[in-house]
Amino acid sequence: MRVIVVKDAAEMGKRAAKLIVDDMKKHATYVLGLATGSTPIPLYKELIRMHKQEGLDFSTVISFNLDEYVGLSPDHDQSYRYFMNENLFKHININPKLTHVPDGTITDLDQIAAYCERYEEMIDDVGGMDYQVLGIGGNGHIGFNEPGSSLGSLTRIKTLTVQTRKDNARFFKSMDEVPRYAITMGIGTTMKVRKVVLLANGESKADAVKAAMEGPVTSMCPASALQLHRFATFVIDEAAASKLTLETCEHG
Ligand code: PGA
Repeated sequence: MRVIVVKDAAEMGKRAAKLIVDDMKKHATYVLGLATGSTPIPLYKELIRMHKQEGLDFSTVISFNLDEYVGLSPDHDQSYRYFMNENLFKHININPKLTHVPDGTITDLDQIAAYCERYEEMIDDVGGMDYQVLGIGGNGHIGFNEPGSSLGSLTRIKTLTVQTRKDNARFFKSMDEVPRYAITMGIGTTMKVRKVVLLANGESKADAVKAAMEGPVTSMCPASALQLHRFATFVIDEAAASKLTLETCEHG
């Protein structure tokens, strides 16, 4: 695994943008896997800057987001579709029809299962994903693949842990409003993506980063599956890297 340690969140965003854009420029069409949460915001800011100042073109980019809460409509301000529109899509020239965020409005379990299969098929139909952006939870989760998730899992509905609901409660009026379920790409979905970049900043992520990189490959730390990925890069700030013992990190 490649690790790039940078000084802060802004640098993390710039370095990750460079990795993705250098790869993107080699392809006529590009399939990008996107994530939500506070971590990728500096990356999205840099992509927006590159679009506005350098003319970076997104018109042939197809995107698939990792996850969405079940029960939230696209116009709910805590839905991940809303987040993507506000933090990236509306600021660049991506074709909205080519952006995919799992549909959180389906509530029937059988229909959700069928929809999740279709989501995987949609990714396969465009030739698979080129680059996946990931954050990491304090418990090592990626997407909403909580500890214990099968390392081979595909897109499906997951129950959120109490900890994840507490972590996200700050965005809702009360804990009761935090959804209990989400649709998420699986760990197996991420393993099929050609290249993966995991971003982390801040000391609260240091234990999870260490477990993911230096611990055993285990479903108890879903991000540790990336040890088996052929092209996974961690771009992390110094605080998130502070518990690593390996000395193979690149700096800058
Ligand atoms: P955060 O969430 O970026 O808001 O820290 C990351 C995650 O839980 O995957």
